[in-house]
Amino acid sequence: MTRNDDRVLLRALRRYAEIRGLAIRTHSHDWIVELTTPAGPHFVWGYDLGVNSATTARLITDKAATAEVLTAHDVPAVAHRLFLDPHRQPFIGEDGTWQRILDCHAAHDGDSVVKANEGTSGVDVHRVRSLDALEAAVHAVFARGQNVAIAPFLDISAEVRVYVASGHPVLMYRKDRPSVVGDGGRTVAQLCLAQADEPGVRAALAAGLRTVDPAYVPAAGETVALTWKHNLGLGSRLTRLHPDAQPQLAALAQAAARAVGARLVAVDVVEHDGRWQVLEMNNGAMFESAVGAGDLSFEAVCTVYSDALDRALGLGPTGGGADPR
Ligand SMILES: Nc1ncnc2c1ncn2[C@@H]1O[C@H](COP(=O)(O)OP(=O)(O)O)[C@@H](O)[C@H]1O
Ligand SMILES: [Mg+2]
Repeated sequence: MTRNDDRVLLRALRRYAEIRGLAIRTHSHDWIVELTTPAGPHFVWGYDLGVNSATTARLITDKAATAEVLTAHDVPAVAHRLFLDPHRQPFIGEDGTWQRILDCHAAHDGDSVVKANEGTSGVDVHRVRSLDALEAAVHAVFARGQNVAIAPFLDISAEVRVYVASGHPVLMYRKDRPSVVGDGGRTVAQLCLAQADEPGVRAALAAGLRTVDPAYVPAAGETVALTWKHNLGLGSRLTRLHPDAQPQLAALAQAAARAVGARLVAVDVVEHDGRWQVLEMNNGAMFESAVGAGDLSFEAVCTVYSDALDRALGLGPTGGGADPR
């Protein structure tokens, strides 16, 4: 666990403040950073650089709203249906939500992903394939006081994150889930134990290999992913891609950023059945585990942060220029 004062973000902001000659101080155990700019204080809250409007930030954080707005802008997105916490009964109506949740799950042929609508890091994201699992997952999310979003489960063949800053795809990487490759003899559990020194495999083992059959014997050369989620915090590894070499993905992410009016956003795009669509968007820009694992350089991260801040604050070589949006 990274201490707040040891965060990559904080180191990058201190360096940015020095280069731009801005005073910097922190609040709330280094969680809130204040930069003193000629126009007044600029705050960074957690990993939110404060460069998007407050409403765009909320929209990006709301998975169901993101999907709806993107679809309205003809940007392909995985549909997420929103179900409000039953404590908001007056907004739900007398019929409640349960029957509509059942209908939604049935419309997904009984294979859904239930998640906290405003969640992050893969927490409270559940694949459900039975009615009792559906009920347990929905209760778990509501119990934390969160709204529920339900999406069809997609067999994702690749997931890519694109950071778009002021209309430019500034950083792109593929997220590869921890996996083992079969030898035709050993079980998934045996293959995992043989690779237990790999952080991703260790994370999957610690999570109890819940989404694969540990007794399954993969054929020689067959790859078995150890989890269905692509979150880096859950063991996936990052492979950098060059946006110029992936024009289709860059264009999709740029269209998504434009549709929600975001200046800095992380767009997660997924490939399913040969078709790419937006799964979700993230308002914050967090690179702690990627830098810690050596997958991203501190320099690359500083560039993303300083470009976004320069443009938002009207500073630096790019700051005064026209916003390409
Ligand atoms: N509908 C879905 N079908 C298949 N996999 C999904 C679906 N929704 C989420 N996932 C997987 O779970 C991960 C976490 O879900 P996500 O919606 O990104 O929530 P979070 O904001 O917690 O990261 C994704 O990176 C993806 O790999
Ligand atoms: Mg995610």
